[in-house]
Amino acid sequence: MARQQIKVVVTDYIEADLKWEQAEMARRGVQFECCQLKQASEAEVIARTADADIVVVNMVKITPSVIAGWKKVKLVIRHGAGYDNCNVPALTQRGIVLEYIPDYCQHEVAEQAIALMMAAARKVVWSRRVLDDSVARGEWDFAPIVPMFRVDGATVGIIGCGRIGSLVRRKLSGFGVKFLICDPYLAPKRKAELGVETTDLETLCRGSDFITIHTPLNDETRHMINAQALSWMKPTAYFVNTSRGGMVDVNALAAALREKRIAGAAIDVFETEPPPKDYPLLGLDNAIVTPHLSWYSKDAEQTIREKIVQDIDLFIQGAGPRIPVNPEALKARG
Ligand SMILES: NC(=O)c1ccc[n+]([C@@H]2O[C@H](COP(=O)([O-])OP(=O)(O)OC[C@H]3O[C@@H](n4cnc5c(N)ncnc54)[C@H](O)[C@@H]3O)[C@@H](O)[C@H]2O)c1
Repeated sequence: MARQQIKVVVTDYIEADLKWEQAEMARRGVQFECCQLKQASEAEVIARTADADIVVVNMVKITPSVIAGWKKVKLVIRHGAGYDNCNVPALTQRGIVLEYIPDYCQHEVAEQAIALMMAAARKVVWSRRVLDDSVARGEWDFAPIVPMFRVDGATVGIIGCGRIGSLVRRKLSGFGVKFLICDPYLAPKRKAELGVETTDLETLCRGSDFITIHTPLNDETRHMINAQALSWMKPTAYFVNTSRGGMVDVNALAAALREKRIAGAAIDVFETEPPPKDYPLLGLDNAIVTPHLSWYSKDAEQTIREKIVQDIDLFIQGAGPRIPVNPEALKARG
């Protein structure tokens, strides 16, 4: 296909603008359109993307009806490390390859998970509030913050030991902590490389002082952290979620936090984003909440832009895809 005939449409983006991408595509003679369709109807999404060859998507839902409205899309690139907003079976059935970019921010997410773990253990966010209140009263009173417990010697439970989970383990290995790993899909070869044994979710929950989750969101993992899993956790345990909001039953988590059945939680991701005003963890002293920014650093932001352009280049060359979710789509295409 001649480059001039290739059309790339971006459905939505989080960068301030896409002038850099625009210039890169112009240099290659590729048509390029960018939209902000996050709040748009399916009909509008179809109207703007129907004649694209490549669709780049951030948060817009790529549903079976949207896919049915496409005339010639061959490749969808999800701007990000998860792809739960894209209907994979419907894409595969139409012979459309889905690529994602899981390799641009693993250090950032691992560092955020550790930062949240430490902030929870050392009650950093809450301490600021206690200090402000105490200073306003002309007092030196940190009684509301105690107790805290030593991190050295604690057990960290890692659910999902893939790119990010295994990095959390590596980066934390100097902290004097022990690990419990739950990942039923970790290949024996990878376990041997990492030097880890795995356990089941209940054993991990019962034995851990910190639990951090790094699994993909799917029908098996949705609400994996529910009332039962929370009931297995120690009253002194902290739960950290930087993966996807849907992994957790947030009402069950809020109840466990309010009733002090676990010590605290630190959450970066929400089932609905942004979270609603009545999101049950807002206002709880033992919950830290951050606005889905684990992926972010200036470096990661540029890396993902370069990798997406690299993936488009591979498509132009008839090569790739680099990291396909559904390589079987190529077969369906025939
Ligand atoms: N908050 C953010 O900004 C941000 C940024 C990047 C990635 N993420 C999320 O982080 C998560 C992990 O990403 P990754 O790149 O490490 O993924 P990955 O695919 O490399 O690793 C996921 C691991 O989870 C394991 N797993 C699958 N099902 C499981 C189950 N039922 N129980 C236990 N383990 C299971 C897999 O075997 C795999 O080892 C994803 O949900 C991704 O969407 C969030």
